[in-house]
Order: sequence, then C-alpha cells, then structure tokens
Amino acid sequence: MITDSDWQSFYDRMANSPPRKLLLRTLEHVKKHDLAIDLGCGNLVDTRLLVTKFKQVEACDTSPLVQKYVDELAASNLKFRQVSFLEALDTSNADLISAQFALPFVDKKEIEEIFRKIPKSLTTGGIFCGHLFGARETQVTDRRCDHTLAEVEALAHGLEVILIEEIEKDVETLSGLKNKHIFNFILRKQ
Ligand SMILES: C[S@@+](CC[C@H](N)C(=O)[O-])C[C@H]1O[C@@H](n2cnc3c(N)ncnc32)[C@H](O)[C@@H]1O
Repeated sequence: MITDSDWQSFYDRMANSPPRKLLLRTLEHVKKHDLAIDLGCGNLVDTRLLVTKFKQVEACDTSPLVQKYVDELAASNLKFRQVSFLEALDTSNADLISAQFALPFVDKKEIEEIFRKIPKSLTTGGIFCGHLFGARETQVTDRRCDHTLAEVEALAHGLEVILIEEIEKDVETLSGLKNKHIFNFILRKQ
C-alpha cells in the first residue's frame, strides 16, 4: 500500500525536476490552449509549465499533500481538484489531458473506463498523453497494473495514434538503478 509518506518522499525527490519529456514532446502537437488537465499532478512538475501555456489548467490528484504545492505556485489560472482520474474527466472541452506516470496506480478496469471517457472530455483535435507500465517495470504500484503493447493499442482504439512506444531499459533513477518498462502514448481525438 502506497502511503502519504511514500508520496511525500517521491514529491521531495522530484522537487527540482524539469517537466516530463513526454509532455514536452506532446506540446508540439497541441493546437489549442484553452484548457489542460494534469491527471495525477503530484508535486506539479508539469503543472508549472502548463500554467504558462494554457488559459486554464486543472490539476487533479487524490493526494491531500498536493494542496501545499498549489498554494506555493499561486497561479491564477490553476484550479486544483482533489479527485480521482475518473471524477476529473467530467469536462468536455479539454485541449490536453496529460497523465504522466499516473495511470498505473489504478487497476486495469479503471484504466479502461478512463480511456472510454477520454474522447468525451477532449475537444476535436485535443490530445491525451501519458504512460502505462509493462510487465517488467520495477516501480512499485498498489495494483501492479501491467499492459502489453497489444493492450495499449486496444485502449487507444478510436483515437488517432501520434505515438505509442514501448521502452525497456536500465536507468539510473533518483532511487538507484531500475529496470524501466513503460509505454509512452500521445493520442489525438479526430
Ligand atoms: C508517480 S506520481 C506522478 C506525479 C506527476 N504526474 C509526475 O510525473 O511526477 C502519481 C500521482 O498519481 C496520484 N494518483 C494515484 N492514484 C490516483 C487516482 N486514482 N486519481 C488521481 N490521482 C491519483 C498520486 O497521488 C501521485 O501524485
């Protein structure tokens, strides 16, 4: 079970980290900048950038620890919602929905439901990006939610695929050498 104190140490380790590379790649494909949603925003590593690029940003996370970072950032175009991924997808006009290293923390059924809700939550041309984990990812999550490439492609069905890439390699992380096995995805609603 991942506790508040586990998340706090993760947020502390991420304190000076730049925005996620996948988000930077995704922004090149975003055409409208009215509303972005950061699903599982954590300590706002990406939200900080999004508030400079979008008129409105909704940062969503179930952790009560996030409020402190929101208060510190004090961005007038930022709304923090302490809600789950599914509850956060109650909009119909997001130009970007970003879920960086966040989705594998819920179970497969919920991930399927999230992907089903995405097209309704995006504007035409809007983009959904994020990560899923493969079977050999070593990062601990409560539900051990793994996917195969075929499953990721099936989740993306109905959306235009800009990118689905599977990456498996040893990397030096903030907590030592780890085997990374992840899927990066960038999908567009047509
Ligand atoms: C590994 S962190 C990633 C944070 C940030 N996106 C980043 O890239 O550093 C995952 C985040 O997802 C949040 N989270 C986990 N389950 C969630 C859920 N069901 N709904 C919303 N947020 C959730 C956690 O509280 C945590 O902040």
